[in-house]
Amino acid sequence: MTQGSSVLSGGRMHSPQSPAEPCVMVIFGASGDLTKRLLVPALYNLACDGLLPDQFAIAGVAMDEFTTESFREKMSHDVRQFSTRKEFDAETWDWLCSRIYYTPGKFDDDAAFARLAELVAQLDQQYQTSGNVLFYMATPPSVFGLISDSLDKAGFKTSSDGWKRIIVEKPFGTDLPSALALNREILKYWTEDQIYRIDHYLGKETVQNIIAFRFSNGMFEPLWNRNFVDHIQFSVAEAVGVEGRGAYYDKSGVLRDMMQNHMFQMLAYLCMEPPISFAPEAVRNEKSKVLEAVRIMDADAVRANTVRGQYGPGSTADGKAVPGYREEPSVPPNSNTETFAAVKLFIDNWRWLGVPIYLRSGKRLWKRGTEIVVQLKNPPDVVFRGTPVESLEPNRLIFHIQPDQGIELRFQAKTPGPEMALQSVNMRFDYSQAFTASRAVGYEVLIYNCMNGDATLFSRTDLVETAWRIAQPMLDAWKNEPADFPNYAAGSWGPKPAFELIERDGRKWVELLNRESLARVPLFEGADPVLLASLIMALKPVVFQPGDEVVRRGEIGRELYLISRGEVDVTDATGAVLATLGEGNFFGEISLLTSAPRNATVRAKSHCDLFVLEKSDFARVLRDRPHFLKTIMEIAQGRYNVSADEVLSDHAAAHAESHSA
Ligand code: NDP
Ligand code: BG6
Repeated sequence: MTQGSSVLSGGRMHSPQSPAEPCVMVIFGASGDLTKRLLVPALYNLACDGLLPDQFAIAGVAMDEFTTESFREKMSHDVRQFSTRKEFDAETWDWLCSRIYYTPGKFDDDAAFARLAELVAQLDQQYQTSGNVLFYMATPPSVFGLISDSLDKAGFKTSSDGWKRIIVEKPFGTDLPSALALNREILKYWTEDQIYRIDHYLGKETVQNIIAFRFSNGMFEPLWNRNFVDHIQFSVAEAVGVEGRGAYYDKSGVLRDMMQNHMFQMLAYLCMEPPISFAPEAVRNEKSKVLEAVRIMDADAVRANTVRGQYGPGSTADGKAVPGYREEPSVPPNSNTETFAAVKLFIDNWRWLGVPIYLRSGKRLWKRGTEIVVQLKNPPDVVFRGTPVESLEPNRLIFHIQPDQGIELRFQAKTPGPEMALQSVNMRFDYSQAFTASRAVGYEVLIYNCMNGDATLFSRTDLVETAWRIAQPMLDAWKNEPADFPNYAAGSWGPKPAFELIERDGRKWVELLNRESLARVPLFEGADPVLLASLIMALKPVVFQPGDEVVRRGEIGRELYLISRGEVDVTDATGAVLATLGEGNFFGEISLLTSAPRNATVRAKSHCDLFVLEKSDFARVLRDRPHFLKTIMEIAQGRYNVSADEVLSDHAAAHAESHSA
């Protein structure tokens, strides 16, 4: 077979990559949710791609009284529901299914483990797996020690043939002391090179691509430091709530559930030093080193640099009403668990000293989206003095992790025309356009690598402990200070203080919109893709709480506001409400069109997420798209009873003035 080719044989694809090493995979917790939703679909994908060896079998263990036959039936049903492949390959599934076995038993039952030992020995013979066994602990961490002890008693550790490895699931501890204890417990039974602590974010192609991108391209590495990078943002927004996992989530919260693990892993990849090779220890050393350099906060620093949130009732993007966190099943009605957090960290090392790293994540936000923004410092703007350019937009390198997958570079270009005007533009790489790989579960590469003894994508003892050391002061401070929850509406952008956290530093979160959601705003319905693309880069987010004044009557307007979420009241000089505007609506246009003082005050009636379009971008859009001006004028005429001539002549005068400026 030539390099890069692949052939079909007996239903299974033989890919140019070699199948993993032979083994029996024992899954503890085989009747659980993780096994059916992620593990078995991932194994099926590996089989379809020819990455499982013929010398392979699975032994499922759990309390439920399945037989091998009934367990195979259940898996055959579940895999069809959770498979990520477009077409189901029954032949490959039959191949895999015929290798699945089940033995019931409690994790403290010696007799059950003796039966398991017999089954594994029989499978080893039958499938010629050379004594290799991979134990996957798809169970709560509270039983990792118990399982290890029972395996030890059943003689698995002393069997000399082949390798024995364990994959342990998250959460790896619930705080620093429990993580230290869990490590101590596991290390009693296993050596470090046998332990594979999983973080499913490292199974994502886009996350692995962070290091591929950084170290295979010379272009950015010289800029990757405190001299050129202004700050970095990590955002993980989830549209879902706790999805029936209230009992687990209430003991966790977003800091434990997302930040301490998944987000710190991404941070480590983005900020670590180049490893000397991709050998597991070389990569793991650098990841640990960068996390060790993260400044540990004291209680005052936690107060200054973190924001917590919890969602109240609200609605999803498609308008469905959803309950607040405290009304979710199994969540106490007075819960103080955070479902949102924004945190500012510093990495005190040679490369990053003084560069703020902002992280935020939350459940029930306006969209699902994981993005990393590396914002570069601005060049001096002296050469633009005397031109229409009022300020420079910083260059941004954006990693779209999910659901959009790609990398985008935003920079400025001259707007076509006689004057020196600038506009934000971008270059973008999209996975869907560059690659044709099937959608993966994310666990494939992790299982495959573990079978091959490659621990690069797994966390070492020191890394998980360091990550907890960073999180612990936040957990302590938050525990001692009650929060004013709920403080953001389900479906919104999160609590206002999270915006203030970054705005205090003269920066802004980059809220990434896509064309589809912008095209749903009534004002932009039917707008051409070029306009939408330029608006996406020009719109900036701002959040207001009920009663906040957004614009004041008499001020000279410098922005147009678009309502993404919430309602505002437009009031006249006497305070009488002239209109209430809701989602998809906009305001502030008259003052921009006429350059006259604002003729109304606008206040947030509810929690409001607004997009701001600055005057220079607004003027550019109007100049390039006259039909857009017409739409805005018709709305303004209806709203404020101004005549078209009045607006047009004022707009022309304002435009001429800005040209001569
Ligand atoms: P479930 O509760 O659905 O499954 C737990 C499994 O463990 C069940 O098969 C259960 O058997 C078995 N089990 C628990 N205690 C014992 C015991 N004493 N003796 C024998 N069997 C036992 O949990 P999940 O599958 O959802 O999660 C498992 C782990 O994976 C957790 O650590 C979780 O955090 C992690 N995880 C889960 C994800 C998911 O999407 N589900 C995603 C990422 C991580 P029985 O049903 O017979 O009681
Ligand atoms: C899990 C968390 O680890 O990651 C969940 O427990 C969260 O609460 C999930 O929803 C997010 O994973 P992904 O891959 O959907 O971003």
